[in-house]
Amino acid sequence: MMTQSPGTFSETNSAEVVSARHAACPNARLATVMTALIRHLHNFAKEVHLTQDEWGLAVDFLTKTGQISSAQRQEFILLSDALGFSMLVDAINNRRPAGATENTVFGPFHVADAPRRQMGDSICLDGKGESCLFEGRVLDLDGQPIGGATVDVWSDNADGFYDVQQPGIQPPGNNRGVFVTGADGRYGFVGIKPVSYPIPDDGPVGQMLAHLGRHPYRPAHMHYLVTAPGFQRLVTHTFVGGDEYLTSDAVFGVKASLIAPYQRLQGQATQWHAPFDFVLAPT
Ligand code: BEZ
Ligand code: FE
Repeated sequence: MMTQSPGTFSETNSAEVVSARHAACPNARLATVMTALIRHLHNFAKEVHLTQDEWGLAVDFLTKTGQISSAQRQEFILLSDALGFSMLVDAINNRRPAGATENTVFGPFHVADAPRRQMGDSICLDGKGESCLFEGRVLDLDGQPIGGATVDVWSDNADGFYDVQQPGIQPPGNNRGVFVTGADGRYGFVGIKPVSYPIPDDGPVGQMLAHLGRHPYRPAHMHYLVTAPGFQRLVTHTFVGGDEYLTSDAVFGVKASLIAPYQRLQGQATQWHAPFDFVLAPT
């Protein structure tokens, strides 16, 4: 069937003209996504009456975002994080039943082959910071323990940097480790009470935040990636209650259910206790 041509390009029909060009696209999903993207992009330019200079600045910004990106640094993900887009895509794709632990942003500092450790081990290798016992259970929605769950954890050190940000300064594997729960679903390890830190802000994303009058800080948190066969992958944090950046996280990762009761321990070698149970939703 022949469809009506939208005619030649004009300010009024610009999005329709551009999208008509991919009418023969064999990938229906790609066509749907591109049609919506083009519509929103064109409407955006019309809404703000984008000037030529502003578009030039935007192209320059995106060029620099690409140029600073490398195997070690992904500035486009940082941009997505800082615009709240990573958290939105995460929310759309991880709608969980009530009672299941919520996801939050993955961040760029996970390491795929972090050291495997024994339950109860310390992950802190540089001796800095206030020690904290992290412990709890991995449970299903009925409250039953999940044995054999992998609990992959990582945090910054007391100076606010991840080991991968300071090669040669921090020992590799500092403040990270992988644990596997036993039949009781329990995990436990000693780390440090994390501290708030700025996301990498020496590139275009940092400049964007400065121009917008935004700070680059994240509230203190411990990262968790919890996986078990038959259950949805959980990417989350526990946030330190009372942190000054809980209401202004640079990447919008805070959820009330993830603010953990970090408790001060008196008269013990370990200074803090951060209990938290993770509840996994079935796949
Ligand atoms: C992080 O928590 O490690 C993180 C998340 C998003 C951007 C930068 C860092
Ligand atoms: Fe982090």
